[in-house]
Amino acid sequence: MEDPREAVRAVAVTIRRGEVMTYGAIAFTTGLHPRQVGRHVAALEDIPWWRIIHADGTPPPATAGPPPPCSRRRTSPSAADGWTSAPCSTAPPQHRRPLRRHRMTTINSLWPTPGTALTDEQLLQSYAPPSGPWLRMNFVSSLDGAVTRDGLSGGLGDDADQRVFELLRRWADVILLGAGTARAEGYGGMRLPEESERWRVEHGLAPQPVLALVTQRLDLDPASSVFADAPVRPLVFTISEAPAESREALAEVAEVVEVGETVVDPMRVREELGRRGLRRIHSEGGPTLFSAFLAAGAVDELCLTLAPTLEAGPAHRIAHSTLAVPTAMELAAVLQGDDELLLRYTRARA
Ligand SMILES: NC(=O)c1ccc[n+]([C@@H]2O[C@H](COP(=O)([O-])OP(=O)(O)OC[C@H]3O[C@@H](n4cnc5c(N)ncnc54)[C@H](OP(=O)(O)O)[C@@H]3O)[C@@H](O)[C@H]2O)c1
Repeated sequence: MEDPREAVRAVAVTIRRGEVMTYGAIAFTTGLHPRQVGRHVAALEDIPWWRIIHADGTPPPATAGPPPPCSRRRTSPSAADGWTSAPCSTAPPQHRRPLRRHRMTTINSLWPTPGTALTDEQLLQSYAPPSGPWLRMNFVSSLDGAVTRDGLSGGLGDDADQRVFELLRRWADVILLGAGTARAEGYGGMRLPEESERWRVEHGLAPQPVLALVTQRLDLDPASSVFADAPVRPLVFTISEAPAESREALAEVAEVVEVGETVVDPMRVREELGRRGLRRIHSEGGPTLFSAFLAAGAVDELCLTLAPTLEAGPAHRIAHSTLAVPTAMELAAVLQGDDELLLRYTRARA
């Protein structure tokens, strides 16, 4: 059996700033009794002990962990994450939300295997894609189907959506994006955080995924951060009729690949990615790209967060095109975080 103290450490270090977990949830995950968890937490160095709380929501005593490395340790546990302005020489920045809000970031599995307070590792395993080729789309939508609020997706998704959004990137060999989304959302260089990089290397993936942009007009600025700050040379998929001047300029900062004459052929995009060993394709949209890939039968999976809001208004849906493309899907998993539902559907087998 795994060393119980190390098992507790493994779970505790995944609790990120602004999140909390109960002793009971760690006990459930590790197979220990909550009191045993308490003992190990007290003995462990370098874990965020102040983020581990009692089942009734009360924080741990300030003596719950090992001796403090600085005065910060004597502040209230919430202050250690910046929830108050208690003085501390190494005080982290103010957190943008109060504790109560973050306690709701807990993600539970409802189906097919029920589970509570999933750790990042459990979430990652539940989202493990096949070895590929596999194309996964990720979207957030309001309950009435809006894909944006004020022109952006950010207003829709809450903490659970954000947590899964970031974790899903870890599995990607390549992150595929329509140029419209890159422009609207102001994407910068696609660099995953160090923790993700470590996890990827441990799991046999390249440290960073490649970013692949799809564009017909090549209306992308070669000097923009999306290229300048990219840890890996991005790919740009386009058509042979795209403006030659823009192609030349972009070829300085990216690999420009033709995948069609007048329209981008999604199956050729997949082939070109496959030829480069990029088999796990993770797409963050948007609606035009999704429709084109749906029409070509190039989508294997949809991860959809249902945000608890009704928007009305003129926003598009997650797939938007002139031609209808009915595509049967099968439910693969249902997670819940606060009032958000995180649904996973795979394309129905014929
Ligand atoms: N809620 C969410 O989860 C979510 C996710 C993503 C995006 N969004 C939102 O969706 C909006 C953008 O929508 P959108 O439909 O414009 O996004 P999009 O699909 O990312 O971008 C459309 C543009 O990308 C290029 N493109 C996409 N598919 C193409 C294809 N098959 N062939 C050739 N070029 C292709 C074209 O670029 P060129 O014009 O350069 O030729 C096209 O104009 C933004 O407001 C964004 O915030 C929401």
